[in-house]
Amino acid sequence: MHLKVASIADATARIKAIELVDPTGSALPAFTAGAHLDIDLPAIGDDEARSYSLLNDPRETHRYVIAVQREENSRGGSEWIHAHLKAGDVLESSEPLNNFALNEAGEHHLLIAGGIGVTPILAMARRLSAMQTPFHIHYCARNRDMAAFVDLFESEFPDRFTLHLDGGDPARGLNVAQLLQERPSGGHTYVCGPAGLIRAVRETTSHWPKGSVHYELFRGAEDETAPRNTDAPFDIFLQRSGKQFTVPADKSILDVLKAEGFRIKTLCREGVCGTCRTVVVSGGVDHRDDVLTDEERETEMQICVSRALPGQTLVLDL
Ligand code: FES
Repeated sequence: MHLKVASIADATARIKAIELVDPTGSALPAFTAGAHLDIDLPAIGDDEARSYSLLNDPRETHRYVIAVQREENSRGGSEWIHAHLKAGDVLESSEPLNNFALNEAGEHHLLIAGGIGVTPILAMARRLSAMQTPFHIHYCARNRDMAAFVDLFESEFPDRFTLHLDGGDPARGLNVAQLLQERPSGGHTYVCGPAGLIRAVRETTSHWPKGSVHYELFRGAEDETAPRNTDAPFDIFLQRSGKQFTVPADKSILDVLKAEGFRIKTLCREGVCGTCRTVVVSGGVDHRDDVLTDEERETEMQICVSRALPGQTLVLDL
């Protein structure tokens, strides 16, 4: 569908809040808290959509509001939006999609956000507040200037909001282990932010019942999954097509296959959406995704981020 940019405002020096409306002035399709839009940005010469969470109150039907952080390692999307997008422009977008939904049957909700991961958390807090369901928000950021929407949180949820500023040292920030040691009765936890925060929450809550911990990696975490300078080249053999390639140290399997003309469906390229899931016939995998379960990792991998373990050749079902 088409969405017109109604306004753009600075939420911080690096984050812009963008209000989108229907170009004809009609009501927009409804969305639920935690939902996102997949927006096409053809101007950057890339045919892949970018996902942006909706942060406004899900009761609103006259607009969607997203926030975009300018990323140092941007694949072009956030940089283009910051430099070129203006009020009146029309974007092509999916309807709202939700992989990070609230469990509205929950009796208590802990909402944990890191950095730009705060956007879906704001919509969730607004929904829970409207439902009069108990919740508390923990928002982790380096300093107040880098934390978006703090004034909104403080005015809308004064008793249900705690800001954790660590000055760049996570050891001085939110004590995840202490916060999540005990599960409140009927409690659910939602975490959206960088991979390190999500890992800490998942590890601490490993004894919580299945389905009570919900997480979404924010889209700016490219540095967590990009090739590392300790990476080495490795070989892949494609069983069905009978082809063999070497994956250089600074490229992913996906990069190599796309360059060789393979058509592979991708979305996030960060190991979080699951779209590029591929069956591994043999070989040891260095899994770097945030989507596969331990059981799935025995036979599958996300080829946008994961690599071969040192000295291994991967045989893939492609
Ligand atoms: S493209 Fe999303 S996990 Fe690979």
